[in-house]
Amino acid sequence: MTTPKTFGQQLGRRSWAEPWKIKMVEPLTMTERPQREAALTAAGYNTFLLRSRDVYIDLLTDSGTSAMSDRQWAGMMLGDEAYAGSENYYHLEAAVQQYYGYKYLVPTHQGRGAEHLISRSAIKPGQYVPGNMYFTTTRLHQEMAGGIFVDVIGDVAHDPQDRSPFKGDIDISKLDALVAKEGAAKIAYISLAATVNMAGGQPVSMANVKALRAWCDTHGVKLYLDATRAVENAYFIQEREEGYADWGVADILRDFCGYTDGAWMSAKKDSLVNIGGWVAVNEWELFEEMRNLVVVFEGLHTYGGLAGRDMEAMAIGIKESVQDAYIRARIGQVRYLGMLLEEWGIPMMEPVGGHAIFLDARRFYPQLTQDDFPAQTLAAELYLDSGIRAMERGIVSAGRDPKTGDHHRPKLELTRLTIPRRVYTQAHMDVVAESVKAVFDARERVRGLTMTYEPKYLRFFQARFEPKA
Ligand code: F0G
Repeated sequence: MTTPKTFGQQLGRRSWAEPWKIKMVEPLTMTERPQREAALTAAGYNTFLLRSRDVYIDLLTDSGTSAMSDRQWAGMMLGDEAYAGSENYYHLEAAVQQYYGYKYLVPTHQGRGAEHLISRSAIKPGQYVPGNMYFTTTRLHQEMAGGIFVDVIGDVAHDPQDRSPFKGDIDISKLDALVAKEGAAKIAYISLAATVNMAGGQPVSMANVKALRAWCDTHGVKLYLDATRAVENAYFIQEREEGYADWGVADILRDFCGYTDGAWMSAKKDSLVNIGGWVAVNEWELFEEMRNLVVVFEGLHTYGGLAGRDMEAMAIGIKESVQDAYIRARIGQVRYLGMLLEEWGIPMMEPVGGHAIFLDARRFYPQLTQDDFPAQTLAAELYLDSGIRAMERGIVSAGRDPKTGDHHRPKLELTRLTIPRRVYTQAHMDVVAESVKAVFDARERVRGLTMTYEPKYLRFFQARFEPKA
């Protein structure tokens, strides 16, 4: 028998805890296995189709699932719901300018609203959009605007066992190859995500964004950032990159963004709100085009599909999100779960990233081929075991090639346990780890799934499956 160690002891130092306490609680539902079997069958073995009342610990996503602070809730009461010129818009604009550093802001209802505006405004049909791995909605908006996505992330990102510190970095030689083949004029812009969601929440280094800036200046190409989890990215730079240990996360964020020409944002992640997003750029002409389009698709340019109170909560959330003690606890909790799983030899994406643990379904279920949907299967098995809800990030999420109609076949076949911000406790993480272990121990009897219904766009949200006999 070994003596159990606290988190701090395992790391060889004194423990620390979240810099907040709980003021209001929301009861959870616990279910029995027969109930879960019925619920999962009704949901077509797709965790997106479960009712949340049938879920115990909800790790589907970190998007819009954060707990807001008392300050943010107080801000909700200060909503200025004027159709035009809401005071809260100006608070949001000031927060984005101060912490992200961009000049011109267009609010949107969430990230994909912003992706729609920037893709439509900055891509000419037939142009290439190189990016550090794809994100589902990002790539779809780029393709719907006539763009052709090219993956230029370093090869290490596709290897779940490679422990490089900055697996989100773009491989500049891949950009050079694209320019040599197609010419710089055929590149709409570089689409840089920090961190990289589909690669396991892996960060991009400051060195890489600096090198990209220089490359873009040489070739006359723009560099736009998916800033959805850029605060988490800044934390990894502080922790891992030489020269940044003494910088605050807020200063790293601002410096990082300074190398880019603009950004789009799903504020439902880093910014600790349940809804909201924006796109912000430094170039007036592009801003003007997007400010024009937002009126057509989202709402007036001073609310972009949001209530005034939502913009206030976002402005406050931005300030809270860059506090060093907060972000350390946020990533520390994800890492705690990762440490437990690592101790038990559970195959997962390494090193553990910012917002989630990504279980490696290929190594979990070596008996399955990718056509058996291993990551979807693993999400289903976890739900059946304990009522924990995870998400597939493999062949189902990757969708089909718009030209050939074949499945995209991503190297990574992952099941994501996404940790909402400020919501669950360390004891919840213990329960999650134990459930993953139980599913791992029962892995040999698993046969995989067949897809019985496939929607045309973003199929992972609504596809249906049945277990193979
Ligand atoms: N970019 C990234 C990196 C994202 O992770 C998301 C959403 C978006 C853009 C789109 O933003 O949802 O506000 O429209 N990711 C969620 C997730 C859905 O679960 O990872 P949105």
